[in-house]
Amino acid sequence: MQKDRKLIIAGNWKMNKTVAEALDLVGGLRRELASVKEVDLVVCPPFTALGEVSKAILDSNVRLGAQNMSEHSGGAYTGEVSAMMLKEFSVRYVILGHSERRQYYGESNALISRKALAAHAATLKPILCIGETLAEREAGQTEAVLESQLRGSLAGLSKEHMEETVLAYEPVWAIGTGKTATTEQAQSAHAFVRHVVASMFDETIAKYVRIQYGGSVKPSNARELMSQPDVDGALVGGASLEVRSFTDIVKNSI
Ligand code: 13P
Repeated sequence: MQKDRKLIIAGNWKMNKTVAEALDLVGGLRRELASVKEVDLVVCPPFTALGEVSKAILDSNVRLGAQNMSEHSGGAYTGEVSAMMLKEFSVRYVILGHSERRQYYGESNALISRKALAAHAATLKPILCIGETLAEREAGQTEAVLESQLRGSLAGLSKEHMEETVLAYEPVWAIGTGKTATTEQAQSAHAFVRHVVASMFDETIAKYVRIQYGGSVKPSNARELMSQPDVDGALVGGASLEVRSFTDIVKNSI
């Protein structure tokens, strides 16, 4: 389906793949997806594989993303990686506020907004994640949670920043569980996210911002999800770890 917004499909490899495994995967993707022009393709390997993957995708249609970064530009922050360090490897995108970071590492909306500002200062494009838990959905709080995550984690961003920001709606209950949101649930959440973006910024920003869906995206459900009017791509976890499944997701989405 043709939309005003170009689809963006990203693989979030999470804490998987040694350098050798990463090169195998990205080599296969580069080969299989060489002819794809309709979709922006992004792979997000762990930090340790960024350097080698960066070289392996030179002159290809695959772009590089990181899975996290520090809100600081440098200094005494043991274990952290700055935006400029990512830029050294030609990283273009950075996933921020993933629910696993929020849940296991205590990342708050305020921290995520500082990271988003630091990413933009270095001209990295955030893929900023939001999503409700099962308990929140069952309590009828989905929209309230999404709105407060958006208002908190996009705080301080300008319209120009938003033009270079991708959003990812990832219902926490659908991540790694095999339970995908129904197309109606995804479409309704995406339309709501776009509505909040319009009220925070303006209609034009909302019209052009790309909103990915994430949570058990597979070759078998990609087409239906991507055909929803407000779904502009996918952030894929488990199924991005194999050449075949990621390739099929991309091909089924076109
Ligand atoms: P799965 O595709 O494994 O459900 O993971 C989704 C995700 O968290 C992508 O960021």
